[in-house]
Amino acid sequence: MNRTASLLAAALVFSCGCSRGAPQAPALSPGDEAAWNRVVAALQQVSEEYREALELKDPPVVERRLSQLATLLDEASALLARIGTPRAADVDAQVKGIRRRIAGIDYRLGEDTRAIVDRILQVIPVRRAPEKKPDLANGKRLFAEACAACHGADGTGPPPEVAKRFDPPPPDILHPDFNWSPYEMFNRLTYGGIETAMPSFEEGLSPQERWDIVFHLFAERWPPCTKPLPKLGSDRLAALGDFELGNEFGYGAASCLRRDFLAPGK
Ligand code: HEC
Repeated sequence: MNRTASLLAAALVFSCGCSRGAPQAPALSPGDEAAWNRVVAALQQVSEEYREALELKDPPVVERRLSQLATLLDEASALLARIGTPRAADVDAQVKGIRRRIAGIDYRLGEDTRAIVDRILQVIPVRRAPEKKPDLANGKRLFAEACAACHGADGTGPPPEVAKRFDPPPPDILHPDFNWSPYEMFNRLTYGGIETAMPSFEEGLSPQERWDIVFHLFAERWPPCTKPLPKLGSDRLAALGDFELGNEFGYGAASCLRRDFLAPGK
């Protein structure tokens, strides 16, 4: 087995979760799963946007942005209280710790918030992957229908005359500033922006349609695949940013892995 194939085999065993002795987390009720997913999405958004907020020029604008992020943390706390398990209470204590720090300048806040997300995802079986293999052509079609008017025909941002109608304007989502995983971007379009023009698509698009769009965007940013690699399951792809894919499978591997993949769990 060459190196890539053995890495891949190791990765598949790891992601399967079905190896002997692997602890089986009890399934969540649909309501609790939705609540945990919303908590994760809120914390992801805070960890990404806190530093960006500090970089804004105008102090009242910074203050408003930080108070929006604080509201997001309060919403997470309310959901955790509703879940009501000891684990949720423990996470809530951590969220409240971040909440107390958010009004000041704290360069570790983003990292610490992200660490809470990682800890949640290690123990709570939140679905982070599509149920079926995403359909890139359908994603492209849906993007044109639901997103292009604001994000531009190819996702790189609208023409200036459209951009200036929004504050903040719709960014380039083909080449985002963050190393998103598809799951994180999926969450972002599920829940939308906080007090921005970015709508929530929780009702407007089915989960599979949202995955189709996200997988389309992640494939589209890369040049065509020239050196095909052993394919990954779409559940594994959903959890990995392009940075992690590059680290694991070599620079540029994403151009092939994002275009040609297997159904989830394969
Ligand atoms: C009515 C205009 C509008 C529509 C329609 C829209 N967006 Fe947005 N989107 C925005 C604006 C404005 C922002 C910037 C504010 C924010 O981040 O909340 C944004 C932000 C985003 C972000 C976060 C980008 C970042 O780097 O932080 C993602 C991802 C995104 N949009 C994806 C989509 C997708 C996918 C669709 C289609 C399903 C879509 N948007 C439809 C206006 C829109």
